[in-house]
Amino acid sequence: MSNRILINADISQARISKHIYGHFAEHLGRCIYEGIWVGEGSPIPNTKGIRKDVLEALRAIRIPVLRWPGGCFADEYHWKDGIGPYERRKRMVNTHWGGVIENNHFGTHEFMLLCELLECEPYICGNVGSGTVQEMSEWVEYMTFDGESPMANWREENGREKPWRLKYFGVGNENWGCGGHMRPEYYADLYRRYQTYVRNYGNNRIFKIAGGANVDDYNWTEVLMKHAGGLMDGLSLHYYTIPGDFWLGKGSALDFDTDEWFVTMKRALHMDELISRHGAIMDKYDPDKRVGLIIDEWGTWFDVEPGTNPGFLYQQNSIRDALVAALHFNIFHKHADRVHMTNIAQTVNVLQAMILTEGDNMLLTPTYHIFDMFKVHQEAELLSVESTLGICEHQGQELPQVTVSASKDHEGRIHLSLVNIDLGQEAEIYVEVRGLDAVELQPVGRILTAKHMNDHNTFEQPNTVAPAPFEQVVADKAGLKLRLPAMSAVTLCLN
Ligand code: AHR
Repeated sequence: MSNRILINADISQARISKHIYGHFAEHLGRCIYEGIWVGEGSPIPNTKGIRKDVLEALRAIRIPVLRWPGGCFADEYHWKDGIGPYERRKRMVNTHWGGVIENNHFGTHEFMLLCELLECEPYICGNVGSGTVQEMSEWVEYMTFDGESPMANWREENGREKPWRLKYFGVGNENWGCGGHMRPEYYADLYRRYQTYVRNYGNNRIFKIAGGANVDDYNWTEVLMKHAGGLMDGLSLHYYTIPGDFWLGKGSALDFDTDEWFVTMKRALHMDELISRHGAIMDKYDPDKRVGLIIDEWGTWFDVEPGTNPGFLYQQNSIRDALVAALHFNIFHKHADRVHMTNIAQTVNVLQAMILTEGDNMLLTPTYHIFDMFKVHQEAELLSVESTLGICEHQGQELPQVTVSASKDHEGRIHLSLVNIDLGQEAEIYVEVRGLDAVELQPVGRILTAKHMNDHNTFEQPNTVAPAPFEQVVADKAGLKLRLPAMSAVTLCLN
């Protein structure tokens, strides 16, 4: 069967929010400490304690928003422990993640500085599970009140006179699980109460995010939308791609077979159904799509690397992870009218990371390269695409072999992204473009692919999986003909 794609360059469907390319960094394992924060006294080059190499790498992919401090950690975090002189900050036990000592050296001021240096929006997750309404309310006052108030005065004493701009605030995390094991009815009421005191001070306008469903808990979404939909700007959803079983063994990040490859892709593609079905419930209560779906935890979750702390969730990252990310972006684009933000879990050294560090070494994972290649879609208009594409078959089961999305940026440039998940078959594809005077392929097309399904980058060989110019494409006025190799993702600029 021939693969055909028609891009309607004159039909925009929605704006692809740049926040779809967001991140998540938790006090978990070596994400914050070592991965981002090394402290000013560290021999690792840093800006006020934040690693320079990591800063530079994240700026290069235009990280738009960063969620912090958790995750499960958020509902045990008491922000007042993490401000003021370091020597007076409370040392606590990170009970969720490895039982290690958390010295609170990375707190509100350090996080806000990180976001300023990255030029990204902070997204703070407040504590509902073990925190009080007053504590949450005062945190917002501390960060955003301009003028005289108890919290603003305290902020100034701690060295920051001007308030920070804070847009995104989450009212708890996984309130059905580590955030309090609540029933949706109970959390909906708590959400209504806590969010009342998440105030807008001065010109600062907070986008309030309610804790959403786990995977396919559609009842959670129904109850939250019904009882609290009018008081929220966003509702979250968490879904991880796990090839095995969460409790019995998730599968290895590098040592896997073709069955696991196929299952991983199938489970990644499940995100499409989840968004459609949660979205349909949201449509019932919010037909104008005012409330954004915030997928603030997604990505692969494998068994930890052998010999590493099981509570640190450190895993390697291969071409398989890269294609999982690329599949997700094509899905997120498709639902750009509802999906306002997503945050991959997690930025450095944890789960599906962009960056791995070891002492003063840093490497960019295959997933990082997908964020880099796909960043052209940030804030672009999603274009209508019609396609007839082939099937990838494995032991009698079928999946779409190729997924696609296209967008037009504010300069009128059209970008096309394609993913081929098949392990052995390339895909020959004809792309026709309607509504554009002429296709003039720009020499900036890039491909990410690999020889083997578990190829990955190491500190010794950091560029085994890295983008290369994409050359298997010819263009004429009407469109393109291209050959998309097995196990690859490509992004092209068409004009
Ligand atoms: O990302 C790791 C953990 O996964 C988060 O802390 C939690 O919210 C989720 O269960």
